[in-house]
Amino acid sequence: MEYQEKFFTTFRTNFQIFVPQLAWLIPGKTLEEGLVDWKTDFFDFFHKQIKAHREKIDLDSDESQDYAEAYLKEQKRRIKDGDKETFSDKQLSNMCLDLWFAGLSTTSITLTWTITYILHNPDVQKKLHEELDRVVGNNRLISTSDKPELQYMNAVINESHQCVNLVPVNLFHCTSRDTVLNGYQVPKDTGVIAQISTVMLDEEVFPDPYKFNPDRFIDENGKLKKVEVLCPFSVGKRQCLGEGLASMELFLLVANFVNRYKIKPYVHGLPSLDKSKNVTVVPRKVVAKLIRRHVQIDGLFVKNYFE
Ligand code: HEM
Repeated sequence: MEYQEKFFTTFRTNFQIFVPQLAWLIPGKTLEEGLVDWKTDFFDFFHKQIKAHREKIDLDSDESQDYAEAYLKEQKRRIKDGDKETFSDKQLSNMCLDLWFAGLSTTSITLTWTITYILHNPDVQKKLHEELDRVVGNNRLISTSDKPELQYMNAVINESHQCVNLVPVNLFHCTSRDTVLNGYQVPKDTGVIAQISTVMLDEEVFPDPYKFNPDRFIDENGKLKKVEVLCPFSVGKRQCLGEGLASMELFLLVANFVNRYKIKPYVHGLPSLDKSKNVTVVPRKVVAKLIRRHVQIDGLFVKNYFE
């Protein structure tokens, strides 16, 4: 992941992504060259994982534990029907790479930003702890079934998405046929971008959009407000396919982390809120002091009054 983040934040890579026709003018490794070693290592890894998986699973059972298992079962069915191409191991490795590439750093970057914003806003952290103490307590892990009750936690995660604005320019697409958009003729093969930033930073919807303010997602009854225009996962047919997974991961990680620890700045002070201007907005390193909120005494978890 470190290599991925490093490589995608170089000037050369960003230039090639945004102005591909002129990228040859800039010295250094091209996007394709830079990804070769990275891909080779990954494909080796996926190849081993697929092999181990195939040996372990029962290809005739109906239930599948994960994506690869479901894929391998479909592959077996297709091979039986004479189709050896569509569901190949090579294709599965490429799928795994896509999901890894699109899913890992996006989620971890959003997570890091969320912790950074919480560190910068002790009042927000206090409200989170109050809600967690009221709804969950200290003697169990938080699961997805707690999500509807942890309204302020959801508001904090929504607000992180809004402030992070992870993919500021968004991905490029191309029209596959002539179309009309808001009265404008858009011919086939035109480059198009769903510019979600213009919505996420729209002052009319999100006043003072750069200020971290989870309360904008809370209504007058203290309940989570549904704000339709929040679209960190983009819009339309090509919107993020990992939205459900990412939302679940973010909720479980942030909620359990904040329930377990009080997060305080370390001697270096607060982490920077400066954003890098790349395809995704990579945060600075976060160094913080973590204090257990509850300690175990005689098998019971009690509040850590020295926190
Ligand atoms: C906080 C986490 C995430 C954010 C903010 C995010 C955001 C986005 C955005 C903005 C796009 C571009 C959509 C477009 O082209 O209009 C996208 C595409 C995509 N995302 Fe995510 N994503 C996240 C996590 C994930 C995860 C966990 C996965 C998979 C495990 C994933 C898989 C994908 C894939 C495969 C695409 C390409 C979809 C396509 O082109 O049809 N993402 N994501």
